[in-house]
Amino acid sequence: MTFRVIVPDNLHEAGIDVLNAADSIEVYAPGKMTREDTLAAMPDADALIVRSATTADAELLAQAAKLKVIVRAGVGVDNIDLDECTRRNIVVMNTPDANTIATAELAFGLMLALARHIPQADASLRAGHWDRKKYMGTQISGKTLGIIGFGRVGRALAQRAKAFDMREIAYDPFVPERVARHLGLSLVPRMEDLLEEADIISLHALVTDETRGMINRENIAKMKDGVLIVNAARGKLINSADLAEALISGKVAGAALDVYDVEPPAPENPLLGLDNVIYTPHLGASTHEAQAAVAIDAAKQAVEALLDGKYDNICNKAVLETQ
Ligand code: MLT
Repeated sequence: MTFRVIVPDNLHEAGIDVLNAADSIEVYAPGKMTREDTLAAMPDADALIVRSATTADAELLAQAAKLKVIVRAGVGVDNIDLDECTRRNIVVMNTPDANTIATAELAFGLMLALARHIPQADASLRAGHWDRKKYMGTQISGKTLGIIGFGRVGRALAQRAKAFDMREIAYDPFVPERVARHLGLSLVPRMEDLLEEADIISLHALVTDETRGMINRENIAKMKDGVLIVNAARGKLINSADLAEALISGKVAGAALDVYDVEPPAPENPLLGLDNVIYTPHLGASTHEAQAAVAIDAAKQAVEALLDGKYDNICNKAVLETQ
């Protein structure tokens, strides 16, 4: 029996090699496929490997009568309709480990860039200016870094910040205190505690009903004046209008944004075009190492699921009740 794996997004060739090397697996990976081509390929698909560009919604799943697994080469599964997959008995998996370091390194880089105005100073020099006074920065050593969401990336960021002599606190209601203690930092019981104490806040939470829009006017008011905010997690954690207002007033001195509520950001997004904001286009996982690693993990998981019925990192655990 041969299983057909469709890869409608650009997946690193290291993952395609894993698929091609597997027995009984037929791969269709022509590069980025249009929505139309993806829909047309669905009836023959036993497995789908996606990054963030393909939306596996009810329309797509309705075409996929044979589909058994979807693997997200990456972490966020916000582009996959998990409930519909569960209803159709499709197992959804992600690759949660492979891009942790890449994302933590980007968040750390954004924090330094923000504290020292590196992109703005670069643009100024390119424009022919020599403006040393304007780009007076803030030392991060001795400052309090508040990490909201203390999963893999939050912890990797904490380890790196330690080397820069930062004081660190984290908020995550799902993580036991001993995990933070083991890493030498304190987990605060209430998000308010973190908002009040942090000089720099870095977001690493998932988007849920509780966290959607958590960086809003009410919570910003609890932050220190002149706080810096880094978001390399998900844009929907932020209420864009409220943060833009705080950036314009100076309550928030600066923000570094890698992610947006809609991607690419809509031209009317109020966070665009602000001098005290650094923008990157969702580059958290964009390193050669991370892309090769997520592709290899995703390909191996797809092969093991199809050939051995072995599933790792299931995102819709309810599906197991129907297996
Ligand atoms: C992830 O969820 O894995 C990261 O945000 C990167 C990506 O979307 O590919």
